[in-house]
Amino acid sequence: MRIVRETRAMQQAAESARHSSKTLGLVPTMGFFHEGHLSLMRRARAECDLVIVTLFVNPTQFAPNEDLSGYPRDFETDCRLAEAEGVDLMYAPANAEVYAPDHATFVDVERLATTLCGASRPGHFRGVATVVAKLFNICKPHKAYFGMKDYQQLRIIEAMVKDLNFDLDIVRCPIVREPDGVAMSSRNSYLSADERRAAVVLRRSLIHAEESFRAGERDAEKLKSKVRAEIGIEPLAQPDYIELVDADDLQPRIIIERDSVLAVAVRFGKARLIDNLYLQLLTTGDRVA
Ligand code: PAJ
Repeated sequence: MRIVRETRAMQQAAESARHSSKTLGLVPTMGFFHEGHLSLMRRARAECDLVIVTLFVNPTQFAPNEDLSGYPRDFETDCRLAEAEGVDLMYAPANAEVYAPDHATFVDVERLATTLCGASRPGHFRGVATVVAKLFNICKPHKAYFGMKDYQQLRIIEAMVKDLNFDLDIVRCPIVREPDGVAMSSRNSYLSADERRAAVVLRRSLIHAEESFRAGERDAEKLKSKVRAEIGIEPLAQPDYIELVDADDLQPRIIIERDSVLAVAVRFGKARLIDNLYLQLLTTGDRVA
């Protein structure tokens, strides 16, 4: 696996791979890899000729009070894991390679960034969209892989690609979970043993909501209050939001008439964990009882 530190060198590597008619697959990450990240690399490996992983803890998506300096890092293990997945190239730039001192251009995806995590983390998605746009221009992929765990991020990037005519496909990848159901996240490393045990409440509450939905419940408030009640029983859990939104425009729904997402953000000590459940409306013919 080649490690590239410089933006110019990355652009040249991408350009020459494109010249040899290779399909380029990109997996943007902030490192500290777990199975969620590796599943994206595996998918890219299966679908593309050249797999590029970016490892960059992007400062513009962290608010001053957030965990930028403490964000978990382990470059050597990450390289070993990516190499084992058959990744061809890792772009791991220093901050100055990405943001010049006079950097002044930002990408703001309006509306989609105002709800859910956008409401509690102002400016976060502006930082995400900006860095992802830059990574697209630096790595020139044909396909880019994103996890549905960060569903709002995924929708914002899909909207940015459409609105700004980026010539690439976004591939949605399913949430990878620990055996007890907790969604894998680099931030799980912040949890104490008790908090880690408590964190299963997120998935458990979403599964119960899913059962009601499958049984025909379409009232968003009823589904949300099930989740709220279940999370409320766990003393270590402090909910940030529990929302039911349209899967496309991310606006709150009262009655579920289109595909929707039940999304939760909950604090456990200093960790803020997110999870979600995609509620797919099946056609009448194949409705599950
Ligand atoms: P990071 O949190 O490192 O996540 C990188 C990618 O892995 C994202 O697409 C995320 O959705 C996916 N991912 C994380 N946990 C997952 C899980 N349990 N199952 C499936 N996929 C999972 O998201 C970011 O980095 C950054 O915001 C980034 C897009 C790189 C921009 O800086």
